[in-house]
Amino acid sequence: MSLTKRSTRRRPGRSAVLLLAVCGVAAALTAGPAAAAGQETLHDLASAQGRYFGSATDNPELSDSAYTDTLGSEFGQITPGNSMKWDTTEPQQGRFDFARGDAITGFAQAHGQTVRGHTLVWHSQLPGWVSALPSAQVEAAMVNHITEVAGHYRGSVAAWDVVNEPFNDDGTFRTSPFYDAMGSDYIATALRAAHAADPDARLYINDYNTEGLGAKSDAMYDLVSGLVAEGVPVDGVGFQGHLAVQYGFPGGMRQNLQRFADLGLDVAVTELDVRMQLPAGAAGLATQATYYRDVVEACLGVERCVGITVWDYTDKYSWVPGAFPGQGAANLYDDNLRPKPAYAAVRAALGDDGGGGPAGPGALRARYRSNDSSVSDNQIKPGLQLVNTGGAAVDLSGVTLRYWFTGDNGASSYGTWCDWSPLGCSTLTHRVAAMSSPHTGADHYLEVGFGSGSLAPGTSTGEMQLRLSKTDWSNFDETDDYSHGAGDSYADAPKVTVYVDGELVWGLEP
Ligand code: G3I
Repeated sequence: MSLTKRSTRRRPGRSAVLLLAVCGVAAALTAGPAAAAGQETLHDLASAQGRYFGSATDNPELSDSAYTDTLGSEFGQITPGNSMKWDTTEPQQGRFDFARGDAITGFAQAHGQTVRGHTLVWHSQLPGWVSALPSAQVEAAMVNHITEVAGHYRGSVAAWDVVNEPFNDDGTFRTSPFYDAMGSDYIATALRAAHAADPDARLYINDYNTEGLGAKSDAMYDLVSGLVAEGVPVDGVGFQGHLAVQYGFPGGMRQNLQRFADLGLDVAVTELDVRMQLPAGAAGLATQATYYRDVVEACLGVERCVGITVWDYTDKYSWVPGAFPGQGAANLYDDNLRPKPAYAAVRAALGDDGGGGPAGPGALRARYRSNDSSVSDNQIKPGLQLVNTGGAAVDLSGVTLRYWFTGDNGASSYGTWCDWSPLGCSTLTHRVAAMSSPHTGADHYLEVGFGSGSLAPGTSTGEMQLRLSKTDWSNFDETDDYSHGAGDSYADAPKVTVYVDGELVWGLEP
């Protein structure tokens, strides 16, 4: 599946809310749990803006249930902080170990989260045997590593940081066993190998201190411009976002992201945190909140910015104090898993209205359960609900929902049915349409519409029992379908998308 989503509806009028949230840091500091019951999560808010909101994690943390409760609910995307790096996955040449990475992808799958793979080719956390290789053997070892690791995670990783941190801060290429053996050609070679191993993954080059305009981001721009011109398979550029309040906010971040997007690439903030000198005081936390806010706003200001990942969500598991003694407090939640002012600032920047739900069409959300007892028979039976969480009635005549699936083998024509709806099945329209550009998990969608009517504030359509089959009644394999879920009770479903007059207002398209 793709992490990308381009058709986005923006909600106006955020600045007043944002100011309140950022100025209200003292109140937020002592606020209770982050996600009050029924409150939209960070990922819900980001999804409504056509983005994901994710967090890094690491294997030892997965045994901390208070931590995983929030990791599994608040975030829609996971990046393994260490578990897919070379020293973990191929500690000895040709001996691969995927146990730790598999634990992370397993967690993500269990929580309906996408995964950014991190990272295939990096100068750091390399086992000694790579550095000891004769130069003539490095390319083959690199290609083999990429082939095995990206091949193993094919289907469970949506994007890869194929090459990590290729530049020094002055914009010159960083030396590494790969650069030393192949010059900068190692980057194109790595991308081609990753594409061959996993043609569906979005392939990124990722670096730090490239968030703003400057020599290092110029170097990245020159590099990826050349790769795009040569037809090398690069899909995106990752901007790590390891910021520090004492160094100032990166200048021109939005413009910088935009120039990469203008090359036809996705951009993403991949490792966001904002450190400060300890002990952290109210002023530092308030400044930090504005940095988080400004990063979110920079991303939302660029259509091709597909999402934001924080480099773990809590100070409890931050890499910062270990790497920068005396610094820390870099994350959205404190050591006790309590949300900090930055958390409120991110919510506000993502469009949270502070409670009660947004007004207007942006308040619509889809809920889904599978009504199917078999995932391999000749019918697909999604149960759908449309909910209006806002404060105003929504005219249903322009509203549609899409359930995304793969047709698999057999006929390309379909029949669709509504088996039951409290609205009356005759008020619903339904059809299957083929996607012009299929993605992993989807080459068709079931589209459900409403001929007329309105949905009152705070109400749901109730269950709409839909059913579809191919006209030759051949079987489906639903397990890999984008919108399919195994749950038999209704839950918010960001992979079932909702539109008003054709404009996406809820969820992520495949
Ligand atoms: O696993 C060993 C453990 O056995 C040992 O007892 C302990 C003692 O120091 O070290 C443990 O390894 C640590 C490893 O994280 C796993 O926790 C390493 O020392 C430590 O250096 C390593 O740090 C990681 C760092 O990359 C290494 O460069 C951080 O967790 C990880 O968050 C960080 O992530 C990087 C991104 O990959 C790239 N961008 C920058 C970012 C922050 O440095």
